[in-house]
Amino acid sequence: MRAQIIGTGSYLPENIATNDFLSTIVDTNDEWISSRTGIHSRHLVSEHETSASMAYEAAKKALDDAHMKPEDLDLIIVATCTADTLVPSTACDIQGRLGADRAAAFDLNAACSGFIYALSTADSFFQSGMYKNALLVGVETLSRIVDWNDRSVCVLFADGAGAAVVEAADTGLMACSLGSDGNKSNALIVKNRENHNPFVPEEKPMDFLYMNGPEVFKFAVKTVPKSILKTLDDAGLTPEDVDLFLLHQANLRINQSIAHKLKISMDKFPCNMDHCGNTSGASIPLLLDEVRQKGMIKSGDTIVLAGFGAGLTWGSAVLTWK
Ligand SMILES: CC(C)(COP(=O)(O)OP(=O)(O)OC[C@H]1O[C@@H](n2cnc3c(N)ncnc32)[C@H](O)[C@@H]1OP(=O)(O)O)[C@@H](O)C(=O)NCCC(=O)NCCS
Repeated sequence: MRAQIIGTGSYLPENIATNDFLSTIVDTNDEWISSRTGIHSRHLVSEHETSASMAYEAAKKALDDAHMKPEDLDLIIVATCTADTLVPSTACDIQGRLGADRAAAFDLNAACSGFIYALSTADSFFQSGMYKNALLVGVETLSRIVDWNDRSVCVLFADGAGAAVVEAADTGLMACSLGSDGNKSNALIVKNRENHNPFVPEEKPMDFLYMNGPEVFKFAVKTVPKSILKTLDDAGLTPEDVDLFLLHQANLRINQSIAHKLKISMDKFPCNMDHCGNTSGASIPLLLDEVRQKGMIKSGDTIVLAGFGAGLTWGSAVLTWK
């Protein structure tokens, strides 16, 4: 039995920050941001929105779409690197809010590859026979961990949530591959901790997200095409067999380079970073829900999902739509 996606949902905060708005906060401009990244605007949480509140809203929509009651859920996995609390997990928070009384729940942190890791984890549970369905949520409040004085970072990252309900079925996920390179962990890092242990010298109170942009860019355009080709090969497919490639939405130029390397038209690479920015673990399920709402996926389509980001981590999956 393999993981089949049977419902999707998403949530974006109401606040929209355009590039012009950001140029009133830091020394930047719409031309620089648009041309280097493809991002025109992004959604940012208000003081009353949290990772858990967004995850809950996206999850409710995915469950409605799947015609599934929360109490029938076996498992909840939340992919996030910006949980509201270190413990308990965001997954436990939304399990309680949903009333998903039977479900085991945990968070998983693989940064922008998190949704692929969550899908692969659910699929493994299905193959083992332990569970028959799962709610997967990708959610981030990256606005909480970026330095709003650092123009090289604050223009890129944003907030939102995407969710999918998956169940064990005869068709669905065909192949999946995951990878990581911890030797490059400093390329994208958030040391967001205080340490008041009396044996440890006082640390500075807050370290925001640091990123070596060009290094992450090179990693993505080199690693993701290889990962996709391996996954397709494992499924006995080639890039030409794929109807849609839904990639992590970090930068339009990264996705254009990946499409070019796979020799596939950008028409098959829908993007939403123009109005969502980079929402890390949320970006793939957010995009999946958006293209579904636009009617861009039909039964029997072959879809590739691929993520890449901090860790460094990457992952890709190929599936047949129900
Ligand atoms: C971040 C990124 C857009 C930067 O683009 P780049 O072409 O590599 O730009 P550089 O970092 O070389 O900076 C070029 C110049 O723009 C400036 N700059 C940086 N941010 C700017 C901003 N928001 N507005 C205006 N200028 C900016 C830099 O200070 C630098 O100026 P200098 O040449 O005078 O020193 C690009 O490296 C990237 O997209 N990397 C991948 C990041 C990513 O996707 N991360 C998430 C992965 S999950």
